Amino acid sequence: MENGQSVWTSIRFWRRSAAWVTGFASALLILLTFDTMGQIKMGTDEDLQKGITKRVPAPTVINHHIDYKYSKKRGHEVPVIGDKEPFFGKEWSPKEARALLHKGKLTVQAKNCINCHTILGNGAYYAPDLTKSWLDPKWKQLMAMTNSKTKEEAMAKFLQHPEKYPTHARRMPNLKITPEEAQAVVAFLKHLSTIDTNGFPRGFSKGVKEFEAGGTYAH
Ligand code: HEC
Repeated sequence: MENGQSVWTSIRFWRRSAAWVTGFASALLILLTFDTMGQIKMGTDEDLQKGITKRVPAPTVINHHIDYKYSKKRGHEVPVIGDKEPFFGKEWSPKEARALLHKGKLTVQAKNCINCHTILGNGAYYAPDLTKSWLDPKWKQLMAMTNSKTKEEAMAKFLQHPEKYPTHARRMPNLKITPEEAQAVVAFLKHLSTIDTNGFPRGFSKGVKEFEAGGTYAH
């Protein structure tokens, strides 16, 4: 600015501005990273017992009934954790539930389910999105088809013999999933459905309404 120079051509001004903008953006990013980490941190069994809602609930959430309800405030569906209900006929301790989910996750990875399906936005759209699959009303139909008393039983049977119970234009191949693996995968899918994904995948409930009105269900 000496010698009548304008601020816009001052190198010092631009250097300072760049330093401030970089500094501010870095601080904001660090802050947001910590905020996100806090939001996606898995809750504990105590949270569940106290009715504290976490974005990612504790593994023992598999001992509860799960609903998916429209929230006016948020403008989309949110998972609602309900009363306790047996899962595969029993209540799972925190340790058991954690081990079961771990096995389910390993199976999902080993069998490469996301080669065809999508989980939390990762994967393919050849087959239905699995993020909210536990809440899919089609399991009612599969309970009848597989002669099962519970949804988890129907899902486990479907996973072991998908070729026997087609409900879709495309078929899922038999991936030689063992009964133990199937149980663990169902637990993984149930837990997945309790994660608050801000209404993702969009249109899930629209498909549900069409299905319940007697249409075909595709999502
Ligand atoms: C080669 C592609 C492919 C792979 C790999 C695959 N699936 Fe599927 N899956 C499909 C197709 C196609 C359907 C729809 C068929 C049907 O419902 O009859 C399906 C349906 C499903 C359904 C029913 C979903 C719903 O809500 O309608 C579930 C649950 C499922 N798969 C889980 C899995 C899991 C878990 C794995 C990994 C262990 C897996 N799939 C691997 C192709 C695949």
